[in-house]
Amino acid sequence: MSKQYFFEAGSFQDLSYAELVSVFNLYGVSKDRIQRFTDKVFIVRDNEVSEEIIKKIFNRLGGFVRYGYLLDQVDTFLAEYIAKGTKVTFGVSVLGNSHKQDSIFLRKLSGELKDELKRNNVPSRFIRPLNREIELNAAQVLKNEIVEKGFELCIIKSENDEIYGCTMGVQDIESFAMRDYDRPFTDVKMGTLPPKLARMMVNLAGLKEGIVWDPFCGSGTIPVEAAVLGFDLLGSDIDEQALEYTEKNIEWASDKGLIGIIKYDVFHLDVKEPDNRTLAKLRKTPISAVVCEPYMGPPQRSTLFSGKAELFLARVEDLYRGLFDILQEVTHEGFIVVMIIPSYKTSWGWKTIGVRDIVGKRWEVLNTELSGGRDLKWSRKNSIITRNIFILRRK
Ligand SMILES: C[S@@+](CC[C@H](N)C(=O)[O-])C[C@H]1O[C@@H](n2cnc3c(N)ncnc32)[C@H](O)[C@@H]1O
Repeated sequence: MSKQYFFEAGSFQDLSYAELVSVFNLYGVSKDRIQRFTDKVFIVRDNEVSEEIIKKIFNRLGGFVRYGYLLDQVDTFLAEYIAKGTKVTFGVSVLGNSHKQDSIFLRKLSGELKDELKRNNVPSRFIRPLNREIELNAAQVLKNEIVEKGFELCIIKSENDEIYGCTMGVQDIESFAMRDYDRPFTDVKMGTLPPKLARMMVNLAGLKEGIVWDPFCGSGTIPVEAAVLGFDLLGSDIDEQALEYTEKNIEWASDKGLIGIIKYDVFHLDVKEPDNRTLAKLRKTPISAVVCEPYMGPPQRSTLFSGKAELFLARVEDLYRGLFDILQEVTHEGFIVVMIIPSYKTSWGWKTIGVRDIVGKRWEVLNTELSGGRDLKWSRKNSIITRNIFILRRK
């Protein structure tokens, strides 16, 4: 019987789901093979996908913290470790809809597993979740080498069902954190995207290879994530310092061995007043997708006056109008754009711009196709700005 796999999403589950659908699609797995078992745990059933591909897919993702295979029978899975007889490091996590009783259940189950191993003369080390958590975090799984030296048993609970799985890997949080905090250049005034979101956006373009262009490249977060995935790059910006930052950050990531050999070009472009030479260059370049975040105003600490939000939104609209005029000239049918439209929290409620007001009818909005009708948003708790993600295809 073929294996079934689970994928556990991070904090932005609807966005993660769309990313998962998009990346599985690249490997020929259709959306209906992906079941949303709980809000954040997805089950993939497909006889054609090998374990190697599943690993490759997980390693591409920005929005997932853990993946593994489902167990047919939970009572026999220890046999493998008992047969080996060597010391086992293990953990137990409850994923999904958690209840108060889960921590008691978790303690009991881990005690039983430890006893069973001991009865069979297998020494073991149990790693418990931190504080009152019922789930090990990725750092604990990585630091204690749980996957290599033993197992993490996951109890995956929906409202009325419960299944068991074994973790095969967790997100490479160190590498994401390194690109977020250790890169040499960050423009704090302009704001930067979290690399995980940048990664998800690149994945939402649904491409395996090609050239990704970020026309508002800032400090280069999107270009670096696209480069990590092996894409060639174009990065442009109106600001000379942003161009320098992007270039230096790409070089740094390359020196750190985070990216392989790719081609890239970083150049000046004001999307509102594009010069003919740059347009000619863009026309000749076989760009596969644009992935971008526009200028959204300086970082905000408190709720905005609605007039200020309207001003920021008018600027965003202006930038996008410029960009889409350029895209009309330099792209073709089927071209993909993944972009952010901000919403601002104002004293009069949330304010944003409709995607149709920006792109008209010449572009198809693919969000529903990928997300099952849910909004694709990235917003931290108590945040004043929400980033709404849109995926568009030129008609
Ligand atoms: C929010 S920042 C992008 C940040 C970037 N995603 C990152 O993570 O570093 C927006 C960028 O848009 C650029 N920008 C503003 N007006 C522009 C224009 N007319 N044409 C091109 N770029 C522009 C700014 O210089 C800024 O670097």
